[in-house]
Amino acid sequence: MRRTVARCFVTHDLPGPALDRLRAEHEVDLWAGLSSPTPDELAAGAADAEGLLSMLVDRIDAALLDRCPKLRAIANYAVGYDNIDLTATRARGIPVGNTPDVLTDATADLTFALILAIARRLEDAAAAVKNGEWRTWEPDKYLGHDVHGATLGIIGMGRIGRAVARRAAGFEMTVLHTSRDGVALDELLTSSDFVSLHCPLTPETHHLIDAETLAKMRPTAMLINTARGPIVDQRALRDALVDGTIAGAALDVTDPEPLAPDDPLMSAPNLIVVPHIGSATHQARADMATLAVENLLAALDGRPMPHEVR
Ligand code: DGY
Repeated sequence: MRRTVARCFVTHDLPGPALDRLRAEHEVDLWAGLSSPTPDELAAGAADAEGLLSMLVDRIDAALLDRCPKLRAIANYAVGYDNIDLTATRARGIPVGNTPDVLTDATADLTFALILAIARRLEDAAAAVKNGEWRTWEPDKYLGHDVHGATLGIIGMGRIGRAVARRAAGFEMTVLHTSRDGVALDELLTSSDFVSLHCPLTPETHHLIDAETLAKMRPTAMLINTARGPIVDQRALRDALVDGTIAGAALDVTDPEPLAPDDPLMSAPNLIVVPHIGSATHQARADMATLAVENLLAALDGRPMPHEVR
């Protein structure tokens, strides 16, 4: 049976061959801008599309959906889907897909890279070499904190949180978490040397880390965020870093994204910020593309998405 060709709007080019599979069956319109489309550009691009392949930075809400009446499938190129108003998509019967599992290990690896980098002051030390400040071997320079044997508090013990815990076992760390069979949030905050966020962004987790929760952390503790920026109140984090409430923070995600170089947070001490690269390995990003395209192909074909958000 010959399939009907649908028009699909894709908001960013994807690594790997997956998009060619979509092109083989449907008409693909790829957003050509260097930045992500604005809400108006997104609405114009998807105005007569039946399929939308979106990035995590594309806001998909009722206002957008009202301007895209033909839309019958949305594949988000991410495991997180806080950029999509599911009440609005459900009300219109539009299935939404995501890309779980394939980025779990890459994101857990990056979490550990950040833990090690902030604890052992890798940015400072590497910058010193580049700046010609490496004079001799000095006993008291670039001293950091031990990662091995430390206590790691994981907030959000889902797929990625569990993968981080498996890596922590190799560093002989004590792992605390707040999920079922875990500890209360207060106990995790007061007892952890590293607090790592792996929960989804929801109304309940928005600013979960604020002045009050930061004050419960140890002055030697460090915060790691590879989940979503708005889980942390960034003003409170800046203050906590400046006044020594906590010893450091390493962020893969910020609020907003991108974070301007002159954002007040960026002048805080003991801070590492990287540009949302948790899943940025060749393999993970190509696998995410495969899942996103498979979700779109299935829904456009009238089949259930292999990874539909419920
Ligand atoms: C996701 O998939 O939600 C990550 O934040 C980016 O890969």
